[in-house]
Amino acid sequence: MSSPGHLGTLATTVRAAVARRVGWQETARLVASELERHLPSPSILTTEQRAGDPEMFRSHVLHSEPDGSFSIVALVWRPGQMTRIHDHVTWGAFAVIQGVEHEELFTLYEEGACLLEAGSTVNAKGDVSGFAPPGDIHRVRNAGNRTAISIHIYGTDVSRLGSSGRHDYDLPVLPARAAA
Ligand SMILES: [Fe+2]
Repeated sequence: MSSPGHLGTLATTVRAAVARRVGWQETARLVASELERHLPSPSILTTEQRAGDPEMFRSHVLHSEPDGSFSIVALVWRPGQMTRIHDHVTWGAFAVIQGVEHEELFTLYEEGACLLEAGSTVNAKGDVSGFAPPGDIHRVRNAGNRTAISIHIYGTDVSRLGSSGRHDYDLPVLPARAAA
């Protein structure tokens, strides 16, 4: 898949970061900083894509690296739309380019019988973060009152896998104080 304009520049710098083969944690950090430097604008999507879908948040693959080493995806969320609680098959980085997203983190607790709340972040336009498994169980939702758009880069070809998700967690969630 070709990548027009500044998405091509982003793909070039991500390719260079991945080629350093420095491990997942450090790769996620390097890719997050390239994403921050070459942040795409919402105009990378068509008007129709930017409108979102009333049924659920939508994912658009913008770039798949031919060797499968990474892909760049845009997610479009109507207000209130959210992911399930999930983790990932590999490292990732994401940036909000429109609206506001709320991310909740969780850890497995009681030998995997339940989840423990492990913090939350509100990410507004321009906020960028990176993550690498393990310790990447989260849920993301559009916490604003307008459509939110975020750009996600994953260390795999999501067009082949269908998603960056490794596992969905349908477990009871305990507040953080339960571990005190
Ligand atoms: Fe995720």
